[in-house]
Amino acid sequence: MNAMNTQLSALESALEGMDLPQMLAFVGNQFPGHVVFSTSFGMEDQVITDAIVASHAPISIFTLDTGRLFNETYSVWAATISKYAINIKTYSPETQALNEWLEKAGPNAFYDSLENRKTCCRIRKVDPLKKALAGNKVWVTGIRAAQSQNRGEMPILEWDEANVIIKFHPLVSWTASEVRDYIQSNEVPYNPLHDKGFVSIGCSPCTRAIKPGEDFRAGRWWWEDNSKKECGLHSHGSHRL
Ligand code: ADX
Ligand code: SF4
Repeated sequence: MNAMNTQLSALESALEGMDLPQMLAFVGNQFPGHVVFSTSFGMEDQVITDAIVASHAPISIFTLDTGRLFNETYSVWAATISKYAINIKTYSPETQALNEWLEKAGPNAFYDSLENRKTCCRIRKVDPLKKALAGNKVWVTGIRAAQSQNRGEMPILEWDEANVIIKFHPLVSWTASEVRDYIQSNEVPYNPLHDKGFVSIGCSPCTRAIKPGEDFRAGRWWWEDNSKKECGLHSHGSHRL
């Protein structure tokens, strides 16, 4: 067992029995100034933002503005900064890389091939994410284990080799209805698309609503094979060492 694994196990034991605000405050205080939370303004992320504010956890919040989000997502973003009076640090695609890609491939090239889709995700999300995570020690996400098969085995804390950072998924064991209940009882602003069959919400051209019984992530990159449905933010290299 190496040093990182020991550290993760110790942290995980310390988190046992804590509620969400307590966990966030604890992890924030373990690595002061080096814990960041990425929000895409989905329901899970809205729960975490609310709990960060309620607990005064020293965790800074950032978003990756791909430029192709739903207008509804921009509205929740606006409602969130207004309700909580918080700063949400924003990372956008690098202008030159984006423009060159658009000139070469056109604006909707992601539908043409998996390679094009990955290039678009890299320019609009993955490269900006690297900037957002640089110099930090813990990355908090809104991932739940129940969200997809790929994510079923996910622990609450893991080492992300690709981004050289500890990932912390405080909602890993929450169910969708626990998330909804939290949103309702705490009057948390949420994306109205969630009430129209959208469960996992990403960029607008790459997200559709799902039908009852469909997989949580069926509406993401719906034209692609199931096994390919991660955008590169959450690589499969993430694991306990
Ligand atoms: S993705 O990899 O398929 O796009 P997903 O939408 O499931 O990710 O979201 C999982 C977590 O990734 C979110 O809870 C959030 O922490 C982070 N995330 C996803 N998209 C963004 C974004 N545009 N900006 C910031 N964080 C994001
Ligand atoms: Fe591009 Fe679609 Fe990826 Fe958004 S989800 S970055 S529009 S390919």
